[in-house]
Amino acid sequence: MTTHNTAEAVSPAQAPARTAQHRKYLMCRPEHFTVSYTINPWMQPANPTDTAVAVAQWQTLYDMYLKLGHEVELIDPIAGLPDMVYTANGGFLIDGIAYGAKFRFRERGPEGPAFMDWFRDRGYDVREPVEVNEGEGDFLLVGDAILAGTGFRSTGDSHREIGEVFGREVVSLTLVDPRFYHLDTAIAVLDPVQGVEHGGPEHANIAYLPSAFDEASQAILAERYPEAIRVSDEDGSVFGLNSASDGYNVIISPRAKGFEVQLRERGYNPILIDLSELLLGGGGIKCCTLELRGPAR
Ligand code: ARG
Repeated sequence: MTTHNTAEAVSPAQAPARTAQHRKYLMCRPEHFTVSYTINPWMQPANPTDTAVAVAQWQTLYDMYLKLGHEVELIDPIAGLPDMVYTANGGFLIDGIAYGAKFRFRERGPEGPAFMDWFRDRGYDVREPVEVNEGEGDFLLVGDAILAGTGFRSTGDSHREIGEVFGREVVSLTLVDPRFYHLDTAIAVLDPVQGVEHGGPEHANIAYLPSAFDEASQAILAERYPEAIRVSDEDGSVFGLNSASDGYNVIISPRAKGFEVQLRERGYNPILIDLSELLLGGGGIKCCTLELRGPAR
């Protein structure tokens, strides 16, 4: 069971005990990584990219997941789809049901069916999307609810669709800063498990960047997650929130200095991994990681 800290800031000695939970992830080795088009403000095709560096950095993340005891599955990279390394966008899975992605931009379009084929081959129950949505880039499971982003990529209609697929509450949040075009660049789910003793998803734990959201969404987040870590604009703008947590270990960018301290104060174990090369495509740690939740092979 997870305990939750209500104090503003506590010393590590007072911080609650956190528990690492086992995770199963899907990743894609960036063998074809490059930046050849621009679909977010980070992507500048004129800046050179180094595929070997991208692969080496990605490998450190992959190795770390295994070291932490997690399982990692791999999908084969496809030539001509340089963004396929960002597997978070490939779908959204709970209990063995895989809601497929339908990409906003033509350049990534073929990734949708490629990921759905992979899910099908592995025995997941695939639900083909009608609406434009970019998977776990814009959908995050927190407690029983799905937080859903819109504004740049996934549409409001996809929020309705995902609610129908999973029969869960969907909380729509509107992103307003083009640098944070996917929800997973503006919110990190630190602990998706709801506090049983409190009986509500509001006691699961997140971190977020308030300025990435419109006012109405900021109010929703403040109300639902009063204990959330609010990161600084400085940490947000180096993709500090694009991180992966198992409930105790939180893999973050080494550039997110303040976030690292905030995590430690709350009893998490920040682990620094630099994916600077993949940031040239506008992605980070979380973007390269899709959680495979549920019973399939
Ligand atoms: N170049 C990719 C795009 O713009 C990056 C995707 C990042 N993924 C994420 N989950 N935030 O679509």
